[in-house]
Amino acid sequence: MVRKLGNFDEWIDYFRYWQDGIGLPQGDLRSFKFEAKFGEQDVPHIEFGHYRGQRKWPTVMHIPDQRIRDALLNLIVYQGDTEFASVEQQRNLLTHAPSDYDLLALMRVMTEEMRHGWQMSYLLCSHFGDEGKREAAKLLERRADEGERLLGSSTHCRAP
Ligand SMILES: [Fe+2]
Repeated sequence: MVRKLGNFDEWIDYFRYWQDGIGLPQGDLRSFKFEAKFGEQDVPHIEFGHYRGQRKWPTVMHIPDQRIRDALLNLIVYQGDTEFASVEQQRNLLTHAPSDYDLLALMRVMTEEMRHGWQMSYLLCSHFGDEGKREAAKLLERRADEGERLLGSSTHCRAP
């Protein structure tokens, strides 16, 4: 059964619980302060495609076609799922890093992946209503070890 989340703060609690659940050790990996980040828009209008020239949609409700809303939700869910899957797959390397430098690099990558997942979950919780909150909870409930992630292993492309 999917955990029912009322808001992003509850998702954050669930995220800590997920970190416990997958056995992430205390220390830098756990004390990192995550936040959702947003860049400035280069231009205020849509630059290509069918809606070219229109003002960029400020909220999901401004998106004029339900199919686009569904596709966007789907993309965010898949992106988020690979972020947490990637951390689950990499955590076993923590005890096998051949040097301190490798360990540091690994922890940095894992922290970045958690931040990416955090960002996708923030979008789901704050813009996609109850369905988004449900999907954000599920991002923390599927387990790579159990073969429950949406895509197979080693599918995560690292975003900057
Ligand atoms: Fe990532």
